[in-house]
Amino acid sequence: MPLVTTTDMFKKAYDGGYAVGAFNINNMEFIQAITEACDELKSPVILQCSQGAIKYAQFPYLVNMVKAATEATSIPIALHLDHGASFEICKECIDNGFTSVMIDASSKPYEENIELSKKVADYAHSKGAVVEAELGTLSGVEDDVNVADDAAQYTNPDQVEDFMKRTGVDSLAIAIGTSHGAFKFKPGQDPKLRLDILEEVVRRLPGFPIVLHGSSAVPQKFVGIINENGGAMKDAIGIPDEQLRAAAKSAVCKINIDSDLRLGMTAGIRQHFAEHPEHFDPRQYLGDGRAYVKEIVHDKVINVLGSDGKA
Ligand code: G3H
Ligand code: 13P
Ligand code: ZN
Repeated sequence: MPLVTTTDMFKKAYDGGYAVGAFNINNMEFIQAITEACDELKSPVILQCSQGAIKYAQFPYLVNMVKAATEATSIPIALHLDHGASFEICKECIDNGFTSVMIDASSKPYEENIELSKKVADYAHSKGAVVEAELGTLSGVEDDVNVADDAAQYTNPDQVEDFMKRTGVDSLAIAIGTSHGAFKFKPGQDPKLRLDILEEVVRRLPGFPIVLHGSSAVPQKFVGIINENGGAMKDAIGIPDEQLRAAAKSAVCKINIDSDLRLGMTAGIRQHFAEHPEHFDPRQYLGDGRAYVKEIVHDKVINVLGSDGKA
């Protein structure tokens, strides 16, 4: 089937008490691993690209590989821009066939966030695409967004109704204690999400789809494989599965996962070279990385998102 927007996916997820996985893609192996796992489990899926991923892989490759995945599978697939920093990049993605974009103006003053999010929503809606915006800021590092721990702030539930009314965006990312990357908490810290803030947001925006960024669990199996095979990922800690499950059962309809897939790919490649130092055929080591990415997506769909059988 052709690429879809997230509108129908989110409505069903909200009503059904589950979430759809939004997995970051950078190359063919990620696209295949994610969509094969979701196809096997009959789960809808969102493939998302950061601006860094677009710079790395380029529009024609990314868009056409994702279109190939829609032909190779029978599940609903949305193509989404992750953390768009400007109106121009959001427009470029929509013009290149993306069905959904995120405008991330969360680090700007409130009124500027509203103005830019509305501008993107107006353009996206005129082209049949949908928009995610963000209120509150997550800490962590991505290629194009870098927020220090002390600059991060929880979403203020008092702002959400006004923000939604004035922007007209289709979903809202909120900050409740998740963060980007593989080092989300310090050892000994209590990895607790502020589900009370989520509840308060839901009370003010009943029926509205909420998004959680920074939701990798950092599975210790893969951290272990990396470290046993020459890696250095001491004290990598993520969000406990049960807290994400609770969010997915509530109004959270989209859960973003990137770091876990990076761990899987890196674990497969490191393990491959430790076992076969003589190999130099990329299909062999990339194939092992891809297999681990697929295993992780399988686990997310069944044990965290609850989206299996919902395609
Ligand atoms: O939250 C963002 C993703 O993890 C993407 O990271 O900008 O390094 O591609 P990236
Ligand atoms: P993680 O770094 O926790 O995987 O978060 C990814 C993300 O939020 C992408 O937007
Ligand atoms: Zn994010």
